[in-house]
Amino acid sequence: MSTLLYIKANAKEDKDSMSIKISDYFIKEYKNRNPKDKIITLDLKKEPIEFLTKEDLKIIFGKDKTLDHPILNYARQFAKADKYVISEPMWNLSVPAVLKAYIDYICVPGITFEYDEEGTKGLLSDRKAINISSRGGLYPREMGPRVEMGDSYIRKVFALFGVVKYQTLYLEGADNKKYDTEILLQQALEDAGRRALTF
Ligand SMILES: Cc1cc2nc3c(=O)[nH]c(=O)nc-3n(C[C@H](O)[C@H](O)[C@H](O)COP(=O)(O)O)c2cc1C
Repeated sequence: MSTLLYIKANAKEDKDSMSIKISDYFIKEYKNRNPKDKIITLDLKKEPIEFLTKEDLKIIFGKDKTLDHPILNYARQFAKADKYVISEPMWNLSVPAVLKAYIDYICVPGITFEYDEEGTKGLLSDRKAINISSRGGLYPREMGPRVEMGDSYIRKVFALFGVVKYQTLYLEGADNKKYDTEILLQQALEDAGRRALTF
């Protein structure tokens, strides 16, 4: 039995969000396929996540990783999961700030990664992740990596943790009048259903 952590980073209500429609569908199909797996949903807009303070830094870099503290609790919850589904919209070429703040909470040496002679070593290498993202515009292959800083940032942070089995499902052109949003959504849902079979 696996534990899947479903991380939702959106200010909108679920019913109004393209990325959550896709990720909810992915989760539904995943559950059908893996009924015994445990799914934990973390809706970041409902969580008490703040910007890091100087006191928080002492907790993150302190030796005692068994303390009962929100930052260490999020990091430990993250480390206990086997699979991750992230759902986020593109905001200003990156991710909503609450997701960045959450990532600052879970980057904890001794829990998700550690320092060694080479630099850093991920502690979660046998896990896998999918990032599901909706974007208003289009970011073609040759331009995407130069401009886009959301998915590429999450991918690099997950690589820091050792999670290199990382895939992205994105819907692009959600706000482009050239495209029919319903058709784009339908295509993304079909893609999500296919990927859920093997995740
Ligand atoms: C604050 C904000 C910033 C945005 N910045 C971008 C952007 O930089 N590039 C882009 O293509 N779309 C941008 N968008 C559009 C969203 O990415 C797009 O509407 C997406 O489909 C929203 O997904 P959601 O319905 O799951 O929230 C932005 C939207 C908002 C609300």
